[in-house]
Amino acid sequence: MIRFETVSKQYPGGTTAVDRLRLEAPSGQITVLVGPSGCGKTTTLRMVNRMIEPTSGSIWLDDQDTARLDEAALRRGIGYVIQHAGLFPHRTVVDNVGTVPRLLGWDRRKTEKRSMELLERVGLDLAFAKRYPSQLSGGQQQRVGVARALAADPPIMLMDEPFSAVDPIVREQLQDEFLRLQADLDKTILFVTHDIDEAIKLGDQVAVLRVGGVLAQVADPAYLLAHPADDFVADFVGRDRGYRALGFHEAPPLPLSPEPTIGLGATPAEARAASLDGWLLVVDEDRHPLGWVEPDRLSAPIDRQTLHRGGTVAAAGGPLRNVLDAALSSPARRGVLVNASGVFVGTVRAHQVLTAIEQTRRPEAGTAERQPEDAR
Ligand SMILES: Nc1ncnc2c1ncn2[C@@H]1O[C@H](COP(=O)(O)OP(=O)(O)O)[C@@H](O)[C@H]1O
Ligand SMILES: [Mg+2]
Repeated sequence: MIRFETVSKQYPGGTTAVDRLRLEAPSGQITVLVGPSGCGKTTTLRMVNRMIEPTSGSIWLDDQDTARLDEAALRRGIGYVIQHAGLFPHRTVVDNVGTVPRLLGWDRRKTEKRSMELLERVGLDLAFAKRYPSQLSGGQQQRVGVARALAADPPIMLMDEPFSAVDPIVREQLQDEFLRLQADLDKTILFVTHDIDEAIKLGDQVAVLRVGGVLAQVADPAYLLAHPADDFVADFVGRDRGYRALGFHEAPPLPLSPEPTIGLGATPAEARAASLDGWLLVVDEDRHPLGWVEPDRLSAPIDRQTLHRGGTVAAAGGPLRNVLDAALSSPARRGVLVNASGVFVGTVRAHQVLTAIEQTRRPEAGTAERQPEDAR
């Protein structure tokens, strides 16, 4: 656990970067600090490993006051990942990862073995191990940065906008892999971002800061979206927060419609005969959905080129947000649902998803409405 006890930081010149912060980051969980630029996120993070000393207050790791710990020993027990990875340019990838183990006096073989294991774990091809950072893409460098921070297996990780500088698609991959990694590792993580979507996706707990270093609210993501504490938080989590909150509600059983399907290689005539309304779903031999075709526009047997791939596929029973997105993004206006093995189970229309959303809300709204009826 990392605990901030009324911690403040004033920089020379009078800026209050952090103002009487009280916050606890529980062990084995991801606590995200989120807020606009300049609200004191980096300062907060760097006070934990004492790269910055607080002006007042104290920071505890379990029952130890960090101010009383040896700085070098403190830092070796804390993994630190920053934007642009901060790799040593003149060291190979594998040597970068082995930085802390070497400082700890591990021998070369053990260090290299550990480094290779970690590169594999963060999803980097081992062919990159002997290259230099500049020969890697931004996303690959971030993976190396994460591997380096994990090398000595520190219980605590500090991550300062580690995925902010890569493009959105790579960022999403890095986030997904980070969550998978954390599911195994159970580190105590303090993660900084200015991106509320990232905070909501990654955080077990989200702390929203405002400029001046004031903590506006701490809550789990679903609570934060549903009950922002004030206008600042409401504004920061955004107008589409209702839609985002759907990500936390699993879809109830939906009225799935059966849907004719066809395989690759079918002729235009076969497709026209099978189609209900101008669209037809194409599946592979295992009934995994591949995409939609418009039979009337086919001039040759169906192949992968003719497929409309627009439209996401959602898991039946998965988050309502994904199910609604599948319905809204489908060219046929019917969302494609699959089971846990990716096998097609049926389609659903947006209005049916909206009805389901209404129903998930009813228990709260219903109680007040039902009372007069019951009294009658
Ligand atoms: N070394 C410094 N000296 C003076 N002011 C600083 C220093 N570092 C940061 N600040 C100021 O402290 C505030 C918080 O900065 P920072 O912690 O970097 O915020 P964030 O990471 O949320 O963008 C900002 O107003 C910034 O300009
Ligand atoms: Mg910062």
